[in-house]
Amino acid sequence: MAGNLSIATGMTIVHLIAAARPNFMKVAPLYHALKGESWCAPVLVHTGQHYDANMSEAFFRDFGLPDPDHDLGIGSGTHGEQTAGVMVAYERLCLASRPDWTVVVGDVNSTLACTLAAKKLGIPVAHLEAGLRSFDRSMPEEINRVVTDALADLLWTPSPDADENLRREGIPEVRIEFVGNIMIDALDMMRDRIAGTKLPQRLGLTAHGYGVVTLHRPANVDEGPALASIVEALRSVAEQIPLVFPVHPRTRERLRRFGLEARLASHPEIRVLEPLGYVDFMSLLRDAALAITDSGGIQEETICLGVPCLTLRDTTERPITLAGGGNRLVRSEDLPEMAQAALAAPRGGVNRPELWDGRTASRVASSLRRAAEAGERR
Ligand code: UD1
Repeated sequence: MAGNLSIATGMTIVHLIAAARPNFMKVAPLYHALKGESWCAPVLVHTGQHYDANMSEAFFRDFGLPDPDHDLGIGSGTHGEQTAGVMVAYERLCLASRPDWTVVVGDVNSTLACTLAAKKLGIPVAHLEAGLRSFDRSMPEEINRVVTDALADLLWTPSPDADENLRREGIPEVRIEFVGNIMIDALDMMRDRIAGTKLPQRLGLTAHGYGVVTLHRPANVDEGPALASIVEALRSVAEQIPLVFPVHPRTRERLRRFGLEARLASHPEIRVLEPLGYVDFMSLLRDAALAITDSGGIQEETICLGVPCLTLRDTTERPITLAGGGNRLVRSEDLPEMAQAALAAPRGGVNRPELWDGRTASRVASSLRRAAEAGERR
């Protein structure tokens, strides 16, 4: 029966699904926590959604993760192709080697695909970072979140607003568990290495003397006019403070396609870089005066580091980051003015919401153990 200890090994076999860059810092603390437990055997499954060395391998290396036990090698494609590709490959893997639990994280296409494939085979699914909602269904991630949470047996949430969202959607209380934010476990785990790598110095930057930019959301980068307006806004911010911009492959491709690459890179105070590994990126972020982003995770990391964050989006699924004023939603036309205000304001303190304490992985491990021992589907 699902949830019973595996007969062959005497251990609960847990598939940990890693797919795209923002998954790796969530899977790593959990992998290390489960690896140390005698009752369970974590198995790393990489779907291959992100495959470039600096989008994937660099993170496995930084976090001391072994090579994945299974690499599904799916790669890029339309949403249908990518989701379907992961479903077919993951179903095949589960049929050949059935886990007792499948653990998915975040909100990428592979999160949804593995949930669907596992549930249809009767394998219980746990979702880490459940319950976040932007209430904007034009975002592919929002669709992935809603469907994954409707199907998962165990929903581990990072903040009380997420519990509230799930209750409102009629998810039974017994499935919901508030465990905190596992990304902060990753940050704590890597703190010394982040302090030691000194990327800003290596780039000739002074602490609090530059801003960091990241962009990849389809709403910002897939249409020429929207991306052009952001490029102009960044040029204008660069008149106030130098900017460092590690460019996501999707964004790099769109900048080229819309003929905007030279316009961005020709500003003397904008430094365009390749995507960075976790330790280097966090070292850059930690000492920044300002972050400009459309990422979900960076909104959370900046409030914990005390770095003012301007989020180029209309909505956020992480409203807890807005509460203390550390993160603000901005439109590109307002960006220069908002940057000026953020730079002029006294630097805010570090804000760590409840249970963002670096101990989320151990709470998740205990929760999974209870569920596995109970051997019941919630
Ligand atoms: C995906 C996630 C998004 C997450 C983001 C983090 C979905 C729907 N989106 O978006 O939630 O915030 O990852 O990066 O799952 N590419 C490469 N090399 C890679 C990966 C991508 O060149 O290793 C290029 C390809 O041209 C690809 C494009 O980037 O078509 C977009 O990649 P994709 O995985 O489809 O979506 P992301 O924009 O990365």
